[in-house]
Amino acid sequence: MQKYILALDQGTTSSRAIVFDHHGRPVACSQQEYPQHFPQPGWVEHDALDIWHTQLACARDALREARIEASQVAAIGIANQRETTVLWDRATGEPVARAIVWQDRRTADACDRLRMEGRAADIQARTGLELDAYFSATKLQWLLDHVPGARARAERGELAFGTVDSWLVYRLCGRHVTDTSNASRTMLFNIHTLRWDEALLALFDIPATVLPEVVGSSEVVGLAAQEWLGYPIPIAGIAGDQQAATFGQACHRKGLVKNTYGTGCFMLMNAGDTPPVSHQRLLSTVGWTVHGATSYLLEGSVFMGGATVQWLRDGLGIIRQSIDVEPLAMSVPDSGGVMLVPAFTGLGAPHWDPYARGAIVGMTRGTTAAHIARAAVEAIAYQSAELLGAMQQDAGCPVLELRADGGAARNDMLMQFQADLLGIPVVRPQVLETTALGAAYLAGLAVGYWDTVEGIAGQWQVERRFEPAMDAGRRLELMARWGRAVEHAKAWET
Ligand code: G3P
Repeated sequence: MQKYILALDQGTTSSRAIVFDHHGRPVACSQQEYPQHFPQPGWVEHDALDIWHTQLACARDALREARIEASQVAAIGIANQRETTVLWDRATGEPVARAIVWQDRRTADACDRLRMEGRAADIQARTGLELDAYFSATKLQWLLDHVPGARARAERGELAFGTVDSWLVYRLCGRHVTDTSNASRTMLFNIHTLRWDEALLALFDIPATVLPEVVGSSEVVGLAAQEWLGYPIPIAGIAGDQQAATFGQACHRKGLVKNTYGTGCFMLMNAGDTPPVSHQRLLSTVGWTVHGATSYLLEGSVFMGGATVQWLRDGLGIIRQSIDVEPLAMSVPDSGGVMLVPAFTGLGAPHWDPYARGAIVGMTRGTTAAHIARAAVEAIAYQSAELLGAMQQDAGCPVLELRADGGAARNDMLMQFQADLLGIPVVRPQVLETTALGAAYLAGLAVGYWDTVEGIAGQWQVERRFEPAMDAGRRLELMARWGRAVEHAKAWET
């Protein structure tokens, strides 16, 4: 009987499930969006039960669509939106409040206070992270301080905290665990010792009783209860979605880099088996722990990637659907000197400026919607080029190619401009579902469905390679101009 792997890709706006075959090819896919809650400006919440129900429904749909029995699934792998903070009652399995999503800024003040107290360097040394509201620690502290009775209940051991991986595993099989990659995004985990860090638990006032047990990214953590999918399938792979995508892009060797062009852009470089130290304000984070060995990554993120195109559609109204952006942008030979800096929610790495705001500069009487559309697409590439530049400086070695995935990686114009700006090839793989594929690989390796990491790397295949076609002088000129445009956007709110 042919066997498959079921990957659950729990993202910020939708839950997805994909069935993969032994060649790493997707056989069936199901996706469901779920509600986003914005109770106050800067706040973003999810109902953790929506996450669970949509994820379970997708898993069932994907099996149905693949026309396979649950008993044909060798293992389940989970990739998840990271940092999002869930707090639930251990006895009932019910959340005690809405989950605070990674994008939520309500704890920015708390981070500012810690920064004023001079804590940022020590936190970075222990966790590899920038002191920012993005990560789970201040979100969990907020929940313990604001949900009535939560702190006392947590101290009595009645509540469990977890990122979305923990939450799904708890609902699926009742174990309270998280993998090293997700733990490394909480700002409570020491990436050198690979343990929860007592000094950070004290600093953020987090009782150790709420924490999940930390496990590897590729090991059987339990069997899904029969009632969910009709068969006790082993849950055998867990990783944060960006780490999973890096694994799915076969960036298994030091120096290999992938960029996911989604709502935001997440660029990650394999940094080998010791935590890298960034001098460019990039994050140093756990990639995965497989067969007891931990790999580390350097990470940079751009907050507005594909979301910039959504803004052209919903905010500016110059396109009707996101896919209309490519023909509109291609209708002009270049942006006509226009630069659009999509700092709508501040700037991420390497700037980390929460007070930056969007800017369009360089307009003339001849500027049209097409130039602005082109500038918006190009902005995704400029921001990613800044990240790659920072990574190269940190790594001290040239990057030979950039592996691209995510929805906007389908945009040929963007891929070509990216290659032009970087001066290195941008490579698009055949399977663009690299997040789910990475989770599937981690799970499959744990149960012997796949034997070796090298074998998996052999399945990665190029669909198209975009070669750089711009001369170096022009590239430098454009990057310098982008740098000037970014200066207009910085510190706008202060
Ligand atoms: O760090 C946040 C990231 O994991 C979210 O990914 O794909 O849900 O936007 P995504």
